Amino acid sequence: MKLHIVKYGDPVLQRAGDEITNIDGELVGFIDNMFETMYEAHGVGLAAPQVALSKKLFVMDVSSGKEKKERITCINPQIVETKGKVISEEGCLSFPGIYFEVERPEVITVSALDLHGREFTFEASGLAARCVLHENDHINGKVFIEYLSPLKRELVGKKIRKRIKAGDWDTEWD
Ligand code: NI
Repeated sequence: MKLHIVKYGDPVLQRAGDEITNIDGELVGFIDNMFETMYEAHGVGLAAPQVALSKKLFVMDVSSGKEKKERITCINPQIVETKGKVISEEGCLSFPGIYFEVERPEVITVSALDLHGREFTFEASGLAARCVLHENDHINGKVFIEYLSPLKRELVGKKIRKRIKAGDWDTEWD
């Protein structure tokens, strides 16, 4: 089942998600829906708050469904190590049509629980590292425009307000 992706302006995006304490069938089904929603939206990552579930959970697949091993679910993730810095363009399914460059660590080590509640650790670089860091921000209530300078952030804000007025951004602005 496809879920509704909330856009910037919805307070759920700026609230830190709760830790997940119980991985049951309902959650596993919800995670399946998150993957379906992410693939349909042509995204490479989707965090639970983006589909209005305020929990520490995200899914990702930098191969866009082409490689099974890239289909990753991270529950209660922790970034345990970061190395280097790299600037690259980034987008977000909660900010459709908005892209800009963000500086982030280049190589990271992540530890999380999988669907069976087992802890796993992996290293990521390139797009995968960027994706983990972006989604990990979401579950901590942080969105990528927070990396912009105040001036650039205001410009993005103006663009979004225009789109809300035009009926092209289905959320309220507070
Ligand atoms: Ni995002």
